[in-house]
Amino acid sequence: MKTIQVNTGRPYRIQIGSGLLDQAPALIAQAYGDRRPRLAVITDDTVDQFYGDHLTALLERAGYPVCKFVFPHGEQSKNLQTVHAVYGFLSENGITRTDVMVALGGGVVGDLAGFAAATWLRSVDFIQIPTTFLSMIDSSVGGKTGVDIPQGKNLVGAFWQPSLVICDPSTLDTLPAVYFSDGIAEAVKYGAILDDSLFRLFEEGRLREQLTEVIARCIDLKRLVVEQDERDTGLRQQLNFGHTFGHAIEKQAQFTITHGQGVAIGMVLISHASERAGLTPSGTADRIRSCLWQYGLPTSTDYPIGLLCQNAMGDKKRSGSKIKLVVLERIGQATLHPVDTDRLLSFMTEESDA
Ligand SMILES: NC(=O)c1ccc[n+]([C@@H]2O[C@H](COP(=O)([O-])OP(=O)(O)OC[C@H]3O[C@@H](n4cnc5c(N)ncnc54)[C@H](O)[C@@H]3O)[C@@H](O)[C@H]2O)c1
Ligand SMILES: [Zn+2]
Repeated sequence: MKTIQVNTGRPYRIQIGSGLLDQAPALIAQAYGDRRPRLAVITDDTVDQFYGDHLTALLERAGYPVCKFVFPHGEQSKNLQTVHAVYGFLSENGITRTDVMVALGGGVVGDLAGFAAATWLRSVDFIQIPTTFLSMIDSSVGGKTGVDIPQGKNLVGAFWQPSLVICDPSTLDTLPAVYFSDGIAEAVKYGAILDDSLFRLFEEGRLREQLTEVIARCIDLKRLVVEQDERDTGLRQQLNFGHTFGHAIEKQAQFTITHGQGVAIGMVLISHASERAGLTPSGTADRIRSCLWQYGLPTSTDYPIGLLCQNAMGDKKRSGSKIKLVVLERIGQATLHPVDTDRLLSFMTEESDA
């Protein structure tokens, strides 16, 4: 088992290891001592089928009073109606401030349960048990919680750190390939912006053989960033590499392509543009493209760039008349490059005259 301590305002531990789900009671006891808080497990119907009853039985056997709320899987459940239903469930089960919520599932469950935990009785503790590659390396680290509203994804939320994260890579055995690939795009992103040796590991196709180590490395990279910028006002913005156009493509496709697919294309698009602008060494975009391609991720789109630029203007990360693009100084090192919104299209399409 590997332990990563995250020193945010509210510090917590991330425990990583194959088979760790079975040790959940012991890990929770480590975090909460002799106290046996009531545990409110929140999960979706797919994850519940695989792991829900197993987890609740383990916890009950260890003496924890447990209740469980299951909602339909998928992004379309990540909304305020589901949060409302969770509040009803917490109320019925008498969940108080000394009790603990447990998010068992992917990023949808983690974001939604985390938001309910941040707001129920003005905040109760929550434990993340991520079961997708993406949620292990990304959404369960850093304390961003939230839901979608009709006006856009993740527009309502709160920063609320979990009290413990239990990350068991063996749960990925049941994860469908398309969701696994989504996580790969984010993992390649960490290598591209922060760690060239991690990027090379992906280039060399060694992800599967070193999965647990890769998960731990990605978590540690995100930890480093989040510790320095918990509230997303500086360094953390680098994690948006590939996301400005990734989001635009997702939106344009009306979410028929996944987030990871959008980010994969977005990383290639922005790197081609920053190469042309002389900000990124030539050949970088091609390296990213071949790396993503070998994991079955798309690297180009038929949507016209003008349309995507228009879409990108609505991005939540825009500030005033500038949009902050994340570009690579080289593989393993990123920087923010602000561009006037009325220059975005030319930045994305023109050769540099520098
Ligand atoms: N909070 C953050 O910092 C952050 C960061 C990145 C993404 N996110 C959010 O994460 C969400 C995406 O997360 P995701 O990709 O994990 O999607 P998800 O939670 O929808 O999970 C994908 C699918 O896999 C199923 N599943 C989950 N674990 C499984 C397992 N072990 N075996 C079989 N099936 C399993 C789920 O039921 C679901 O159908 C988005 O809502 C996104 O906004 C948040
Ligand atoms: Zn992302």
